[in-house]
Amino acid sequence: MHILHVVGARPNFMKAAPVISALEQRNGLRQTLVHTGQHYNANMSDIFFDQLGIPKPDFNLEVGSGTHAQQTAQIMSCFEPVVLEQKPDLVLVYGDVNSTVATALVCTKLGIPIGHVEAGLRSYDRKMPEEINRLLTDQMADLLFTPSIDGNENLGREGIDAKKVHLVGNVMIDTLMRLLPKANDEVLKELTGNGPGPTGPTQNQATEDTLPHQLIHGPYALVTLHRPSNVDDPAMLRSIIVTLNEISQKLPVILPIHPRTRQRLQGLNLPIDNAHLKLIEPIGYLQFLALQRRAKIVITDSGGIQEETTYLGVPCLTVRENTERPVTTVIGTNILVGQDMKKLKDEVNLILSGTGKKGTIPPLWDGKASERIAVVVEKWLNNKVDRL
Ligand code: UD1
Repeated sequence: MHILHVVGARPNFMKAAPVISALEQRNGLRQTLVHTGQHYNANMSDIFFDQLGIPKPDFNLEVGSGTHAQQTAQIMSCFEPVVLEQKPDLVLVYGDVNSTVATALVCTKLGIPIGHVEAGLRSYDRKMPEEINRLLTDQMADLLFTPSIDGNENLGREGIDAKKVHLVGNVMIDTLMRLLPKANDEVLKELTGNGPGPTGPTQNQATEDTLPHQLIHGPYALVTLHRPSNVDDPAMLRSIIVTLNEISQKLPVILPIHPRTRQRLQGLNLPIDNAHLKLIEPIGYLQFLALQRRAKIVITDSGGIQEETTYLGVPCLTVRENTERPVTTVIGTNILVGQDMKKLKDEVNLILSGTGKKGTIPPLWDGKASERIAVVVEKWLNNKVDRL
């Protein structure tokens, strides 16, 4: 039996890694890995393969960037000949990026079964490209693996047969639990210019990208921003950066900057990258996890970071009006501040005064989600799970 996995963008890598590893333990299974190349910089892609122990991709489609239509079309036309030649019994796609929906669509048209890992999440905001990707991928999938019960409820409302849906838990947490012991002060040395660079020996000296030692070892806020709703609108981006500058007067801010955000900042003439608000290049998984677990506050618009902070018990302020991961706000440490900068500052103050929100770890965030997926996949391949 042959399983083909598709990854493309940074948030796919930590989801695919544990599933590939769990399926490796099964006899008689062959696995092929396709990287679409949606993310291609060393620090957006290669470093994750190294740190997460993901095998080298069998195919790299090298599609790169483009408009949504260009990127999606490019992935589809490059992926079709690969999947036709490989003839997998099942294709596993991850998360909600353009690579997910594009390859799912190719498979559906060819009659090749698909499993969707991280199915059923909904923000109910169709202005988000990821929401469209989630909705369409779930409509096409033959096997849907949900991280939490709200996923099953959403899929039920969309008329998806419950027999196809398997509540398995959160695969990202499998990776986090496995690698947390390695996300220690040692890997942070690399960020202060005192160790081998996160993307190779060339970053071994102190550069403008390194962090002062005292910054990492004192209290700080860790920030990530890349959603189009925050960074593609110059007025919004300006207002967020101005607010982060204000916050940084009380609590230093570390901002590993996504290439998309860096592009948008160019030409805005904003006061950024100073002693209190430190901009650095995107960093590896272990370095980011090490920074997260020590952070006083995380401020983000990412999906996965809302979950990681909930697991770590670190307060998270999400600069979005909605979330597809409501479990992080209902029982986790996450608070949606929307695009309201006053609320962001108020919540930071509450956390600094010690009265911030506390949370607990959601059910099935236990490090065993990928093992549960492997069990279902194996049964499904042996026709022991309903095929609809
Ligand atoms: C994508 C995902 C988003 C995910 C994010 C994580 C979609 C629709 N969006 O957004 O859900 O949260 O990845 O990072 O799939 N770029 C580089 N180098 C790279 C990759 C991107 O320079 O390795 C630049 C390019 O200029 C590109 C821009 O970043 O145009 C945006 O990249 P793209 O893959 O289109 O979307 P992301 O914003 O990264």
